[in-house]
Amino acid sequence: AETVVRRERFAGGPARSFMSSLDADQRIFAADLAVDRAHVVMLAEQGIVGDDDAGAILGALDTVAEAGHEALPEGEDVHEAIESAVVEEVGPAGGKMHTARSRNDEVATCIRYRFRQDLLDAAEATIELRGTLLDAAAAETGTVVPGFTHRQHAQPTTVGHLLASYAGAVARDTERLLAAYERTNRSPLGSAAFAGTTFDVDRERTADLLGFHDVIENAADAVTARDFLVEGCGAFAALSATLSGLATDLIEGAKDGHVDLDDAYASTSSIMPQKKNPDSLELVRAVAGDAVGDLTGLLSTLKGLPRAYNRDLQRATPHAWDAVDIVTEATEVTAGAVATAEWDADACAADAGAGFSTATGVADALAVAGLPFRSAHELVAEAATDLDDAEMAETDAQIDALETAAAAVLDDSLATYVDRETLEDLLSPAGSVAARDSQGGPAASAVEASL
Ligand code: ARG
Repeated sequence: AETVVRRERFAGGPARSFMSSLDADQRIFAADLAVDRAHVVMLAEQGIVGDDDAGAILGALDTVAEAGHEALPEGEDVHEAIESAVVEEVGPAGGKMHTARSRNDEVATCIRYRFRQDLLDAAEATIELRGTLLDAAAAETGTVVPGFTHRQHAQPTTVGHLLASYAGAVARDTERLLAAYERTNRSPLGSAAFAGTTFDVDRERTADLLGFHDVIENAADAVTARDFLVEGCGAFAALSATLSGLATDLIEGAKDGHVDLDDAYASTSSIMPQKKNPDSLELVRAVAGDAVGDLTGLLSTLKGLPRAYNRDLQRATPHAWDAVDIVTEATEVTAGAVATAEWDADACAADAGAGFSTATGVADALAVAGLPFRSAHELVAEAATDLDDAEMAETDAQIDALETAAAAVLDDSLATYVDRETLEDLLSPAGSVAARDSQGGPAASAVEASL
């Protein structure tokens, strides 16, 4: 009867839906049932609750699980609603389930239980994406393509080198998710409100039953800590930044006609019938903004919160769920787009020499022949200023301009340093790429070694 009186007094009135997290808690419905079961088993093993009552409670939890989250009675949150459902089924003895715990340790445990699974699922998605990138890179080690810095033609590279560069970044994103998993997978259960309990609980046992590899020792720390969410959301934000860069490279490649996205990852215009737009990748890029927002929202909520439970924490959690959902989906979509994209080797090669992109190789060759690199750089720069846009991509015009610059800068002939045949090879995008076989470079041999 006392319980009923309390419930009525704190039923919430006009602020009820504002204070309730029941809908958002759908995410931790299964987690809460697992936490309830582990706690009840431990209470029985410790002789805190009798076996008959524990058995009845476990049976009621099965019934609640079967009925699902939607069938729960009203409540301030999933923890209260499940307890009410258990009491309804078992009678007042169902109330023994909440012995030696608080919703504070309960909710912290539930979030960790669910978030660790989300981290593993996301890590798996990144591993699949990396595999996709590596396969695509292996198929395109010979596809010479323009490389850009400051969005200007810089040096030729290959599609294989570009995609493998993202595989490296994604590998670190996987590491970050797994590092967050390591610190997420620790149990706060048995801390009660923050001050421990007079009951002889076995925290190691519930941690073990729930698959946590450790407990968070200090009870006040255990119920307060949400830094595992910060770390996880940081990993999601970093991953989303990697994805957004890849998305932009693919969007630009599609714009230049170097890569054709599969129709499943593109969209058309409602008015311009000729259009094929890279919408899926633009959305991947936008997801990075949301993920950064989630991390910022989470940190803004946590900043300045004192020890133990404050209801502010209820609004911290959904930021993490949002980051999990959007970034994991974006990872899967990106993998699909990469796996099905078709690179046009001829179109890539045709543009690879644009903007005098092989100029660095000429300067390198002059330096090898004994000219100080700074003088070589100056000579080639001088030649570049002589060339118009079309000439910038034409070997003959490039060689003429280099000859003129050599005469002006060195008062000497270019042939003293490098013969014409070598020069032609240096100026060809394929030759330029093939020569860059240093560790991690774009030459097919170097990319194959790194793959
Ligand atoms: N719904 C709450 C949350 O998500 C659960 C914990 C409530 N604890 C409390 N002392 N009011 O954080």
